Amino acid sequence: MLLNTEDFRVRARRNLPRFVFDYIEGGADDGHCLRRNLSDLAAVELTPRVLRDTRSVDTSIEVFGRSWALPFGIAPTGLNGLVRPRGDALLATAAARRGVPFTLSTASNMRLEDVRSAAPGGVQWMQLYVMHRDLAGQIVERAARAGYEALVLTVDVPISGNREADLRNGFRMPFKPTARLAWDVMTHPSWSLRMLPNGAPDFANLTPAGGDAGSANMQAALLARAMDRSLVWETLAWLRGLWKGPLLLKGILHPDDARLAIDHGIDGLIVSNHGGRQNDASPSAISALPRVVAATEGRIPVFMDGGVRRGGDIAKALALGATAAFVGRPALYGLATDGVHGAEAVIKLLSDELVRSMTLLGATSAAALPGSLGSVGGQPA
Ligand SMILES: Cc1cc2nc3c(=O)[nH]c(=O)nc-3n(C[C@H](O)[C@H](O)[C@H](O)COP(=O)(O)O)c2cc1C
Repeated sequence: MLLNTEDFRVRARRNLPRFVFDYIEGGADDGHCLRRNLSDLAAVELTPRVLRDTRSVDTSIEVFGRSWALPFGIAPTGLNGLVRPRGDALLATAAARRGVPFTLSTASNMRLEDVRSAAPGGVQWMQLYVMHRDLAGQIVERAARAGYEALVLTVDVPISGNREADLRNGFRMPFKPTARLAWDVMTHPSWSLRMLPNGAPDFANLTPAGGDAGSANMQAALLARAMDRSLVWETLAWLRGLWKGPLLLKGILHPDDARLAIDHGIDGLIVSNHGGRQNDASPSAISALPRVVAATEGRIPVFMDGGVRRGGDIAKALALGATAAFVGRPALYGLATDGVHGAEAVIKLLSDELVRSMTLLGATSAAALPGSLGSVGGQPA
């Protein structure tokens, strides 16, 4: 029975070759940050208010002029095509059907234009990695032309975190078959049969029509997450000039960086430690959230991701000041379990849990939840 996202995780582990599951699950170094995301969320208490009319609970919110049915969305994840062929489009479709936003990674396996047209009505944001400014500029222009509504610059990957499971599994691009990988693939025949007609996924956004020699270097750079480390606050104006819509920074944990972001004309922040995949010493996203929210003084929306596994976790993020939360791995567990239907089922599950939590809390509006009821360690805020 698939009663919660943990059940989907177990099913995903069964369905996927080990090197794919480990890539999804992995944290940096010893996994401290990864575990902190979960344990700090578990430690948040929400104190219910009683005798309120909870016959109807409104989970909708408005973000940058668009209505979301629920106060959460799908975080950008690279290599969704390893989980399922056309994984990017399947996640975008599931999100659009349920009225939540989808963020496409620069490291997607489908071209951003194709993902946008697969789910035309949905809210879609584009995540940007800057490995090379010219290339990033082209992606930004293409995203604007395709109708992406916000641009999310990920700022917590100057270099890749140390993910030892991937090293042990020999997971690299382009794929080089080893005996261990071959065994892994052979022992997951349904995954292999699905993948076979499509071949090994590549980073489609970086492959110009026809391909060229330079693109192979960029593919390798993206898998190794070799970023342009000369990109600093002062050069953000370059991006601001290229992108006229809402521009968000993803990977903010320090309140001073939140203030700098506002000074540099940023429209929104995502408090995140990249799901524990980068700096293992980082605080959990939920514990960093209230400090970042305080620093922004309500001037721009603050989102969070990292460790959200229950609808109740979304209520916690909102109670501690987030406008909305994002989920990374849970959507992939759904995708691995049953494609678009699995991803939709995970969104529905989180939605049902959120409504139950809000009802139990006496909180009838997601839009009114930010900043109320929550505390870390017991005292009502
Ligand atoms: C498999 C995987 C791939 C990811 N790829 C990206 C990416 O390409 N760009 C990005 O900004 N974040 C990426 N992230 C981080 C997520 O956007 C998000 O911050 C994180 O997954 C949230 O934590 P959660 O998985 O506990 O929900 C990735 C995360 C995972 C698990």
